[in-house]
This record gives sequence, C-alpha cells and structure tokens, in this order.
Amino acid sequence: MTKQINLDNITIFVEDDLHSVARRAADVFAAVLTAAPAGTYGFATGSTPVGMYQELIARYRADELDFGGITAFNLDEYYPIAKSNDQSYEHFMKTQLFDHINVSKDNIDIPNGEAIDPEAECMRYEKAIRANANNFELQVLGIGENGHIGFNEPTDHFPAHTNYVELDKSTINANARFFDAVDDVPKHALTMGVGTIMMAKRVLLVATGFKKSDVICQTLLGAINPCISASALQMHRDVTVVLDADAACALLAQL
Ligand code: PGA
Repeated sequence: MTKQINLDNITIFVEDDLHSVARRAADVFAAVLTAAPAGTYGFATGSTPVGMYQELIARYRADELDFGGITAFNLDEYYPIAKSNDQSYEHFMKTQLFDHINVSKDNIDIPNGEAIDPEAECMRYEKAIRANANNFELQVLGIGENGHIGFNEPTDHFPAHTNYVELDKSTINANARFFDAVDDVPKHALTMGVGTIMMAKRVLLVATGFKKSDVICQTLLGAINPCISASALQMHRDVTVVLDADAACALLAQL
C-alpha cells in the first residue's frame, strides 16, 4: 500500500514495488503535462526512470498524453562521447522515450558530448534553458549513491549553472555496469548545475533499491550540504519524491 509523507515543500510517496513506483512517477508527470502541455520539461537518464518512461509511452499510445507541445531538455551527458555511442545519453533518451512519443525533434536539447569546447557548450546550454525558465514546469531526477543530482558530484559548493565536471570515482564505478570495461566510462560530463535544476517549478525525484536508502535519508533529513548535491532540494518549493520500500528504509526509520 502507498505511504504518503508530507514535509512542507516535499511530498514523499513510498510504493510497494517497482511497477507502482513507475506508475506513481508517471502520474506526477502526467498531471503536470496535462496542466502545461506547452511547457518545458527536464528529463533524466539512468536505470531508475526507465519504468516511468515506459508508463508514459503506454499512456501516449493510449491517447492519454500529448507531448507535441513540449520543449525537452536533458539533465546531463557524458563528455566526450559520440552521439551515436549506445551509452550516450542522447542515444538513451531517444531509445527509451523520445522515439516513442510525439515530442518534436526540433524541441529537444541535450548537452552535446561532441562539442569541441565543453565550457562553451555549457554556456550555450544554460542560456537555452534560461530562455525557457518561465515555463520550466518539471525536472525529473534520479539520485546517485553519492547523492548527486545530474552529475553534480560531491564538492564544496552547489554549482549554479550548467557545468563541465570531472566524474567522481564512485560514479565511474557505478556506471561501469553499462560499459564493457570501467576504463570505457568517460571521465567527464556536462551537467545542469544545481541552480539550473532549482529553476524548475517542480522537481520529481525517483529512487529505488537499498543502495539509495542512506543517501535518500541524508538528502531529505540531513544538513543541506554540497557533498550531497540532492540536499539542495530541501530548499526547492515543490518536490515530489517517489521511492520503493527499499529506498525508503532508512528514511522511514527516522520519521
Ligand atoms: P541510476 O542512476 O538511476 O542508474 O541509479 C542515477 C544517477 O546516477 O543519478
């Protein structure tokens, strides 16, 4: 059975299983999309949102959702990486979602992992998002085991803008499962900053599995600290968190 916890600006749903997590997250997305069909939406990669994307595709095919008016941005991308690389986030978003819904290809912007100058690409990307800030309706997020949102790795400040980052060893190791060898994981990335993410009117954070349990608890109840970039969400005005029982374990023990 779903458990709902309200912490002022943060609503937390704890679901029994991965299907229910996917459905709940899709419900949250769908409600925003229905209210703001011409809005700007930020998407995330990783294994966590895949179930939600499958739900969204199913609802689109059932004529319940229309993505024809949206503008889509992506949270991050490896750098450097060829767009054609099947581990690029460009490839991920196309195959997991964009190729299966009616979002206009002209209205999709993903950080360019092939850009010659990564810093210039970050500036271009940040500017493009800021031009849509007025209707930046929703940002979808996963969370790393190290507490990152996007690739905002543990550091001594919250990055304000889209930035070019060196990936944390823990992130490289966590993502090695998608590559043939750990050495194939790119060492850098382009990511929305924490400040960029905070511009979204609403944030939807999804996390599943025991491995995320401690970091979810620290994110939502611990000190706001750039060592866990997700903790900045405590300062956001409208966050929905969808967890499975495993990811909620440590949090529920504290409440
Ligand atoms: P995951 O990645 O969904 O594959 O666990 C989340 C993240 O690193 O942000």
